[in-house]
Amino acid sequence: MEFSSRRRALLKVIVLGDSGVGKTSLMNRYVYKKFSQQYKATIGADFVTKELQVDDKDVTLQIWDTAGQERFQSLGSAFYRGSDCCVLVYDVNVLRTFETLTNWHDEFLKQADPVHPDVFPFVLLGNKIDIDGGNSRAVSEKKAREWCSSKGDIPYFETSAKEDYNVDDAFLSVAKVALQTD
Ligand code: GTP
Ligand code: MG
Repeated sequence: MEFSSRRRALLKVIVLGDSGVGKTSLMNRYVYKKFSQQYKATIGADFVTKELQVDDKDVTLQIWDTAGQERFQSLGSAFYRGSDCCVLVYDVNVLRTFETLTNWHDEFLKQADPVHPDVFPFVLLGNKIDIDGGNSRAVSEKKAREWCSSKGDIPYFETSAKEDYNVDDAFLSVAKVALQTD
């Protein structure tokens, strides 16, 4: 964590997950209050910032969006180092995007190489819960929570970037767990 002159905490957050799960959409919803149906694959990595207050503390989230297609090769481990939180995203309607979570999780830890990998803060988002009113779900909430328990107590949120469901709450939780890494 870094601090500006006003001791505003600057928290580096990395968002990972398979292509098309809604990483960019969640960030655009959270920061710009916008949603687009159109899919435009992210190339490389880019960040947006969001200022918020957590328990009377001024916090700036620096949220790094990544490309689900590119895996880890292209960015290099320097990109991941110094992260304060890793947000993993999957699509509750696509089983494959859930099955790859362990790989994203483990590979992140390998690249970021935090001092205490066993307590490094992750948050899991199960996105697109709006689709079909939940009738096309491929992963149950129970199954997702079991995975979170198996990796230490990872907070879990079911979200919809489209309907703006749980997005603010999810990123507030991200800020809270990220603040614990000092
Ligand atoms: P990459 O950049 O390739 O890694 O993909 P991404 O994870 O950034 O996915 P993106 O945000 O571009 O979303 C992919 C598609 O899913 C787009 O067409 C979005 O409109 C759509 N989408 C994203 N979130 C939601 C959601 O919550 N509900 C629904 N119905 N569609 C969504
Ligand atoms: Mg994207």
